[in-house]
Amino acid sequence: MLDKSRLRIAMQKSGRLSDESQKLFASCGIKINLQQQRLIAFAENMPIDILRVRDDDIPGLVMDGVVDLGIIGENVLEEELLSRRAQGEDPRYTTLRRLDFGGCRLSLAMPLDAEYTGPQCLQNSRIATSYPHLLKRYLDEQKVRFKSCLLNGSVEVAPRAGLADAICDLVSTGATLEANGLREVDVIYRSKATLIQRDGEISDEKQELINKLLTRMQGVIQARE
Ligand code: PRP
Ligand code: ZN
Ligand code: MG
Repeated sequence: MLDKSRLRIAMQKSGRLSDESQKLFASCGIKINLQQQRLIAFAENMPIDILRVRDDDIPGLVMDGVVDLGIIGENVLEEELLSRRAQGEDPRYTTLRRLDFGGCRLSLAMPLDAEYTGPQCLQNSRIATSYPHLLKRYLDEQKVRFKSCLLNGSVEVAPRAGLADAICDLVSTGATLEANGLREVDVIYRSKATLIQRDGEISDEKQELINKLLTRMQGVIQARE
């Protein structure tokens, strides 16, 4: 069992946010040995445990109070929020700080030869995505009816595979779209990494440690601006 008195932080195990998250911890003076491919890493010099998990699981771990803090992309956080609300839940958390990495956009993309003059072009289309709630919120506002095709990965192959007419996925450099003969036609959400804290009771010791980390982060982020 994990020691509940230690501060628990969730970070992405591998992916776009993991290196930067790790760097941030290091520059805040947290000494951890992540070398060993462990799912839980213990800080040597502070009462902190780092949980290394899939990014998609981080918002839920914070909302369910399993971890105290999490570093997550706003896109994943917002999708989880909408998904839980759709199920009648009232998820709670606090945003401590928007971070200066993990920038990306959630965009609509179509095959190079497809015409696009606006969201109306997607009327009655099939759209592949891992972000069905964010997509629906956007297209509902535009009064566009569509069918979403939920894929948790390799969303970019959907048009070629005949599964969908368009996709709605994250774009960072644009290389993935280009490699798959797709063109970004509309940005529906802009995202960065953010640090969130669970709601509810927290010991004074933990809150002091969180405040100390936040002050250090502030310094680190300001220094690289
Ligand atoms: C996103 C997205 C694309 C890629 C786009 O995946 O699903 O695969 O990044 O990046 P590019 O524009 O630089 O090519 P992400 O890294 O979020 O991984 P995940 O979906 O597995 O969490
Ligand atoms: Zn993911
Ligand atoms: Mg991906």
